[in-house]
Amino acid sequence: MTETTSPQSASAAPALDGGDTPLRVAVIVGSNREGRFGPIVAEWLLAHVRERSDFVVDVVDLAESELPTSLSFSPSAAASAELAKVTPKLAAADAFIVLTPEYNHSYPASLKALIDWHKDEWEAKPVAFVSYGGLSGGLRAVEHLRPVFAELHTVTIRDTVSFHNAGALFDVEGNHRDPSAADAAAKGMLDQLAWWGWALRGAKSVRPYGS
Ligand SMILES: Cc1cc2nc3c(=O)[nH]c(=O)nc-3n(C[C@H](O)[C@H](O)[C@H](O)COP(=O)(O)O)c2cc1C
Repeated sequence: MTETTSPQSASAAPALDGGDTPLRVAVIVGSNREGRFGPIVAEWLLAHVRERSDFVVDVVDLAESELPTSLSFSPSAAASAELAKVTPKLAAADAFIVLTPEYNHSYPASLKALIDWHKDEWEAKPVAFVSYGGLSGGLRAVEHLRPVFAELHTVTIRDTVSFHNAGALFDVEGNHRDPSAADAAAKGMLDQLAWWGWALRGAKSVRPYGS
């Protein structure tokens, strides 16, 4: 069967996004553990994001800030200084990729602190996940993050990239030993993130979220 689109219906489609500016995606490196493996996976992910023209990327590395676990409506000067390292990047983002390890069948406390210190910065934006860990590849961490991000009015992306027994998958230089399946998974996840990023940014340009 041949599918046809009339010129009339194509030209009638609304240009919701109002431009072709790339989506600003914040890659959140969730582990801040001493001796962490996270940067290896982060570099692999960043290489995939940076080769695309539909994204520009910011990195939010939780090892580079010390967010308190005690929340406050009037944070101390020290807490404000730490928040200033991350909050503007979250606010500016059109989309997020959360890179999470699995700790005790869930995600690390560093990520929960980042999430809970913020609210509006997450709203009506898409969130994708890349996970790693032992046998489960961090998938339980991702499934725990989905309802948390739903509470914050985000859209979580269905397809994830996960690395089971992550340490064995990369060589000493940080290259994936057998990258074809992971590369394909990254493309699928990033394509879905871009779709939702454009859709939500375009919709918000026409009508504020929740109005
Ligand atoms: C406190 C702790 C708990 C862990 N719990 C799990 C777990 O429940 N399931 C799993 O597959 N791996 C688990 N692991 C293995 C980690 O997912 C793996 O070591 C990963 O590389 C940690 O990420 P990081 O090195 O970037 O901190 C755990 C590791 C730590 C340190």
